[in-house]
Amino acid sequence: MIHHDSEHRLWVLSGPSSSYVLHLDEADRPRVLHWGPRLSPEQAASLPLRLPRPGFRPVEDPLEGSFDLISTGGLCYGQVGLQVRFADGTRDLELVFTGQRRTDRELVLAYADRHYPLAVECHYRLYGDVIERHLVLRNEGEPVTVVRADSATWVLPRLNGYRLSSVRGQWGAETRLHRTELPYGETVLTSRRGVTSHQANPWAMVDDGTAGEEYGAVYSCALAWSGSWRLTAQRLPTERVTLSAGAGHDPVTQELDTGEELVTPVCAGLYTEGGFGAASRAWHDHQLRHVLPHPGEIRPVLYNSWEATGFDVSLDGQIRLAESAARMGVELFVVDDGWFGARTHDAAGLGDWYPNPHRFPEGLGPLIDRVHELGMRFGLWVEPEMVNPDSDLYRAHPDWVIHRPHRTRTEHRNQLVLDLSRPEVGDWLYRTLDELLAKNAIDFLKWDMNRPFTEAGPDERLWLGHVHTLYDVLDRLRAAHPHVRIESCSSGGGRVDLGILRRTDQVWTSDNTDALDRLDIQHGFSQLYPARVMGAWVTDSPNPYTGREIPLDFRFHVAMAGVLAIGGALTEWSRADLDRAAELIADYKRIRPLVQHGRQYRLRPPDGELSAVQYLASDGTEAAVLVYRRARRFGHADPGIPLRALDPDARYRDVSTGEVHHGAVLLAHGLFPDLAPGDYAGALVHLVREQA
Ligand code: DGJ
Repeated sequence: MIHHDSEHRLWVLSGPSSSYVLHLDEADRPRVLHWGPRLSPEQAASLPLRLPRPGFRPVEDPLEGSFDLISTGGLCYGQVGLQVRFADGTRDLELVFTGQRRTDRELVLAYADRHYPLAVECHYRLYGDVIERHLVLRNEGEPVTVVRADSATWVLPRLNGYRLSSVRGQWGAETRLHRTELPYGETVLTSRRGVTSHQANPWAMVDDGTAGEEYGAVYSCALAWSGSWRLTAQRLPTERVTLSAGAGHDPVTQELDTGEELVTPVCAGLYTEGGFGAASRAWHDHQLRHVLPHPGEIRPVLYNSWEATGFDVSLDGQIRLAESAARMGVELFVVDDGWFGARTHDAAGLGDWYPNPHRFPEGLGPLIDRVHELGMRFGLWVEPEMVNPDSDLYRAHPDWVIHRPHRTRTEHRNQLVLDLSRPEVGDWLYRTLDELLAKNAIDFLKWDMNRPFTEAGPDERLWLGHVHTLYDVLDRLRAAHPHVRIESCSSGGGRVDLGILRRTDQVWTSDNTDALDRLDIQHGFSQLYPARVMGAWVTDSPNPYTGREIPLDFRFHVAMAGVLAIGGALTEWSRADLDRAAELIADYKRIRPLVQHGRQYRLRPPDGELSAVQYLASDGTEAAVLVYRRARRFGHADPGIPLRALDPDARYRDVSTGEVHHGAVLLAHGLFPDLAPGDYAGALVHLVREQA
């Protein structure tokens, strides 16, 4: 709920367990008085409105770093969330408060420049303890250049220390959790690639340096944007800390013509207690309730042909894989790259979205029919934002790609990026996919994006326009083909964020399918994103990327922590492996409501010998625990794994062994799963609460 105290010029935005208190000072600046545990309006009104003046002769604004909208001007020298350049060269903004609009869950604080006809609105929307914030800029004057418009600037209270958590990565090694003391100055997490990126992901968490998985206060924010972005964690020498995030990167600016409006993407902020585990669960819950398009659905077990066939796609080969997959219990069969145009290798065909006439002389119909006959849904890979120079599309429209005159058209994986900011390219994109979906009984698209931008220059219409067109095409396709589900992929996990998750149903987490590497990738992924969207394939051993040999059960147990899928060359698998895989898929189907819709507890991180993750049904009646021992050391006894959030007075029955455990004992001493001797031993324990 949102409470307004007009006497003190205060707004109190409260979720079930947190509050955010804003005060408009005498200069109309929105100062954050509190972000933390829930306060009543009366308690909020008692917060001090003035800070004691700092030392002798301040040359800086003593309140710098405490405003949730910081624009250029005055005695502020730190990072600004809003920066414009007026037509006459003036850069300072002088905002005056012009009014508010308010409901129980939404607040709009409106400002306007004191001289120039530029209006700025700060929008806040409450979802439980999550506050979504964005800006709207409206220009009625001469064209304005928007240098920076961060969706939100989150102001932290004074803590005893500041530690920043984020993820870093690269292709095949995404979402590696990184925790470090926040240095003084500005720490910039960013993507300058036109996509969210493998290198960083647009979220951050800050704690005082003492929080653990289960205890401590965590301040976090996440940006809902799938293009270039920038998140600045600023620590001033005065110990004021802000997290500020928005779309675009230096030096991308946006021109706002007379009469034009700019609406920034949303950046959500969240205060939680109960450690990083509670913060992650709150983010998962938010996405399951308010972000994902079909939150109540169970994601099916998927088969993807990429690692099995590469570009060597044929009707017979795909049917053989489909038959094998169906026998194992797979529910959705996805044909990856290589089915269209002249795409028999990665140097041709992108852009020509019709079935390769030699490989599929009668079109995709016979394959789709067979997959449906086998009782599975049919999915198809596309990479629609791209073109190979060796394609009919490029030959017809060489000017449709992002390029600049007199500059090389840099190719990456032999491909170029289509300029989606051109209306005719956006129209072509929608028409092509709409026709593909209308002519073929496709249930699922894997939407890939395999290369970042180059030669894009500082033209914002291209950097930002690309994402707007992408979102628009996805929205229109989903409306026109409501049964189609979509997976976001960008060479693995290069486009995972709250913006794309509003329009897709799951993501491809990483091209790296090595189960050991996956433990780290999944651990980092889970910090913000729920298991319900985390595509995880079981592939062959030795793994094609790392060469590591890992037993089938361990590979399955690792992939069961997300949306289980199979990606191996099934026609090469032994009878014993195929039979065992069918059993493990059946096990997964029993626990997947817990994995995909339950609450996740990271019991032990993957950096040690033994790691484990628990999923608990929201009503507490069932739990699934996945345990992994990566390597056994001589003389080490496996420790018990204490579980979380069970009822100490209840008893829980192990579905496989029938053994009954007391909740209190599982909480205090833990589970002692029966792990196979040796390295790469995994186990799944499914517990059901006994009726009282
Ligand atoms: C990159 C994806 O991440 C892979 O899974 C696969 O779809 C290839 N592209 C196909 O080119």
